[in-house]
Amino acid sequence: MGAADSEATVVLGGSGFLGAHAVSMALRRADIDHPVVSVSRGPGEGPLFGRHRSQPHFERADARDPDALLAALEGWRPARVINCLALARGADCEEDPLLASLLNAQVPGLLARWCGRNGARLVHVSTDLVFGDAPPPAPGGFREQDAPAPISAYGATKAAGERAVLAACPRAIVVRLPLLYGASGGRELGASDSFLGAVERGDVPRLFSDEWRTPLLVEDAASALLELAWGAGSGLLHVGGPDRVSRIQLGLALLIARGLEPGDAEARVSAARRADAALDPPRPEDTSLDSSRARVVLRTRLRGLREGAARACAP
Ligand SMILES: NC(=O)c1ccc[n+]([C@@H]2O[C@H](COP(=O)([O-])OP(=O)(O)OC[C@H]3O[C@@H](n4cnc5c(N)ncnc54)[C@H](OP(=O)(O)O)[C@@H]3O)[C@@H](O)[C@H]2O)c1
Repeated sequence: MGAADSEATVVLGGSGFLGAHAVSMALRRADIDHPVVSVSRGPGEGPLFGRHRSQPHFERADARDPDALLAALEGWRPARVINCLALARGADCEEDPLLASLLNAQVPGLLARWCGRNGARLVHVSTDLVFGDAPPPAPGGFREQDAPAPISAYGATKAAGERAVLAACPRAIVVRLPLLYGASGGRELGASDSFLGAVERGDVPRLFSDEWRTPLLVEDAASALLELAWGAGSGLLHVGGPDRVSRIQLGLALLIARGLEPGDAEARVSAARRADAALDPPRPEDTSLDSSRARVVLRTRLRGLREGAARACAP
């Protein structure tokens, strides 16, 4: 087994919603001798959040040609790889399941093989949507040892990606994240910016009172990924928020954090129940994660919804 030649940190999917935060967080940890490399298909490079002493290096590579991605890794021979690259929208996965399988399952397996052979630390990002066929078996949410049971192409390909990563590189860590919210640099990505943008345009979004998640501020997710990239530990880890809330509770918390009175916030959304709607692609009713292990192993504090919403809505 080789050892990584450089101290570089490579963030695959560095232009995306989560990836841009991971790149920003990596810049805060790294110094001039520790380059941070953001890889995506381009042309957008993704925003940076916070203050940094250095800039990331940008590499363009299209993962539909996995050799191009591996060539970027060969070029940098990084010490750490954080994989935020994915076909991450459910509708896109249903529309093109082959591409979803390539990007969400086969490419992660190839990356893991490269990291295993070259002694690079791999942090691979997965999702709570590997669950959903049935509610969590315990009230605290799904635990790492619960068997995945996805109900969508997105969830199924991400579950296949987890298996491929851990088979090819048992020292890798696979982080299952929940619904993420927080700043997207004006791009209306993630659960809060897309929702708040719609409300600002005068839409009245329909939000379910009987769909349950453990949402997490995207910055806390990125911070956890970076901590794990510099740390030890392998296998599966659930990194969800501490509050189990319905979609409408999340929406109302965001509007109140924006400064609306509770009554005004309620008037800006349309409360619904899942039975009232045809959900296409299918969405699980409850994918709450039990993140008690993460709370023990991580120094990163996983903020609750009230504090996270205030941060997400900060000017
Ligand atoms: N957002 C959430 O609420 C959430 C929740 C749980 C888990 N996750 C997981 O978190 C990770 C990141 O999700 P996200 O929401 O940040 O997704 P995103 O905003 O759609 O970002 C996806 C990233 O992948 C890159 N990418 C896609 N196709 C590519 C290709 N063919 N070649 C090279 N790069 C490609 C994109 O770059 P280009 O734009 O240049 O193509 C982008 O940088 C995913 O693994 C997702 O499953 C997200």
